[in-house]
Amino acid sequence: MIYLDSAATTFRKPQTVRVAVQRAMQTMSSPGRGGYESARAAEELLFRTRTLAAELFGVPDAEHVVFTSSATHGLNIAIKSVVPVGGRVVVSPWEHNAVTRPLHALGAEVAVAAAPLFDDDSCVRAFSKEIRRGADAVVCTAASNVFGYVMPLQEIAAVCRRMRVPLVVDAAQSAGAEALDMTALGAAFVAMPGHKGLYGPQGTGLLLCGADAKPLLEGGTGSASLSQEMPDFLPDRLEAGTHNVPGVAGLEAGLRYVRGMTPERIARYERRLIRRASESLRRMDGVTVYASDDPARQLGVLSFTVAGRESEDLARALARRGVAVRAGLHCAPLAHQSAGTAEGGTVRLSVSAFTTEAEIDGFLNALRGILAK
Ligand code: ALA
Repeated sequence: MIYLDSAATTFRKPQTVRVAVQRAMQTMSSPGRGGYESARAAEELLFRTRTLAAELFGVPDAEHVVFTSSATHGLNIAIKSVVPVGGRVVVSPWEHNAVTRPLHALGAEVAVAAAPLFDDDSCVRAFSKEIRRGADAVVCTAASNVFGYVMPLQEIAAVCRRMRVPLVVDAAQSAGAEALDMTALGAAFVAMPGHKGLYGPQGTGLLLCGADAKPLLEGGTGSASLSQEMPDFLPDRLEAGTHNVPGVAGLEAGLRYVRGMTPERIARYERRLIRRASESLRRMDGVTVYASDDPARQLGVLSFTVAGRESEDLARALARRGVAVRAGLHCAPLAHQSAGTAEGGTVRLSVSAFTTEAEIDGFLNALRGILAK
């Protein structure tokens, strides 16, 4: 199979990740539940992984790195911590349902900082304008899961700091492939999955906390057990219940892989692959490609449509030829409305550090074959 759906999950993981998951299942029990060896091993794993993530993402205190089950889980905690019921929230035009659905559930007034795709100046102007109108919070993706557009996050964060508005960053698509420094951004929260660009297993995620957080779940933490309130300190405040220890072990190995490769090198490689795909797609009749002319503005995600062809049909035809891509709305209807692709969505290919140029060529040949029919 030619796997080009890494924006959904990086299906191919480093060998060290698989080994770490298996070893954890054989040697680790539950952290914070006893002083015996297997519990201590789990405890140490959690501490090592938090420290690794804190170093990678510029979090001053490793205890402010919280384990979640996904970016969606982290975003729910973050959004429900900073957005009051019925509050006004400014978002980018490229947000995922993981952002817009929690906001909808809170009855928030959602103001979209509308700007064209890949247009940083208009984007920052739109954010400034909407924030000046009054905002309880800003929620912004670091990179679009549909178009790979790398948002001008530093500039948006600077506006938030100036206006003293808490910023929640959805780093689902960028973590691991784009450097991110929580302290420099001054963000309230940054949420990310463990299973995409960090190469950990599904069911893992991280929430970097720079502000007071409200628990989404109450339950046992192995600490302050006499109190019926959740502990008021991190990470316990947000980590009720038994940890996903094998998942965290895989995530630790994934983080080590990313640190060794460096996000910058991974991004350079992924951009080369996307460029290869977009240049060829642009030469095909009837194909519209949503690619930036400036490669620095795009991560390893590329959307396209073909005139007269349903995106879902194309993805099915590609699957029959052994190519895995995602088509449709990608759980991001707002992004498609903003780009004018809501009717039918797009076909999306997305790469990882394990994708090869030969696979991009294989995809292009398969598509040529389908379009020739
Ligand atoms: N949000 C993930 C995607 O874009 C699952 O496919």
